[in-house]
Amino acid sequence: MRSVEGTPKVVSLNPDRRQSFYGRDIVSVKQFDREDLAFIMQVADEMRSIVRRVGATDLLKGYVLANLFYEPSTRTSSSFIAAMQRLGGAVIPIHGVQYSSVTKGESLPDTIRTLECYADVIVLRHPEVGASEVAARYASKPIISAGDGVGEHPTQGLLDLYTIQTELGTLEGLHVAMVGDLKHGRTVHSLARLLRLYGTRQTFVSPDILRLPEEIKQELIEAGCVVEETERVEDVIETADVIYVTRVQKERFADLHVYEAVKDYYEITPQLMARAKPKMALMHPLPRVGEIHYDVDDDPRAAYFRQMENGMYIRMALLAAVLGKA
Ligand code: NCD
Repeated sequence: MRSVEGTPKVVSLNPDRRQSFYGRDIVSVKQFDREDLAFIMQVADEMRSIVRRVGATDLLKGYVLANLFYEPSTRTSSSFIAAMQRLGGAVIPIHGVQYSSVTKGESLPDTIRTLECYADVIVLRHPEVGASEVAARYASKPIISAGDGVGEHPTQGLLDLYTIQTELGTLEGLHVAMVGDLKHGRTVHSLARLLRLYGTRQTFVSPDILRLPEEIKQELIEAGCVVEETERVEDVIETADVIYVTRVQKERFADLHVYEAVKDYYEITPQLMARAKPKMALMHPLPRVGEIHYDVDDDPRAAYFRQMENGMYIRMALLAAVLGKA
């Protein structure tokens, strides 16, 4: 890590908004309004500029993050660690809960109450929907959800929103198509909910058994979004400003025969991309397991690697904000 002497502190334009994040849990994107989102994306811009100029800052020097993962993770866990380290803070990484007291039968509330004795903020990924809300009820320190089962993945939703903003320069009135496992894909659940605030047209492209949950569809309709569903990517390829592709979530299927039947439903190829708009963003939360052909990676519209990088800036912004330092 580079030295951080003299790195400018992040300055917010809106002190009230900064106040509204301080000490707050991040458990669902439903808790944000447009001003919150503008604030966090602006802080992420500032984080990006700090990292690009000097690599790191000492904004969170002396603070400790507990990174508690009950499910596999590469990007989310390592980007939270990198985010905390680039802010000058320290991390307690707990990624193999099989080696922790969880195996001895410790409950989530007790594990959380233990970690908050040592840490100032806790990041939690858990297989059960609502686990982060439960954790937040027991914790006095901020809980940031890193994904709860098939529920939500709020920080991924934020980095996806930020990526759309940086790739296309706007969030207003876009046509966004989400493709793949929309039933189990928690990143889709969070992003669709965030986009409801920007008057988007959203098309959900999936096989019948992997459709977006009805409850989320209703939320979008009530918010005034145009909502469409189809099984065919061909129906959206020429009009979409964003195509957001997801993996079929094998680990959520009770019957693997059902998974096998739908796992290869979609593949974005260079031939398909040839029909897409010249200015659009092809996104994926990753990992991919065949939904986007590797030959698409060099297409300038393929935004998934930039999307990953944006995750670190958004997580830096969130950590600084909930600790009152943004
Ligand atoms: C996603 C997740 O865990 O929900 N991955 C991620 O955090 N970038 C998507 C997935 O696993 O398919």
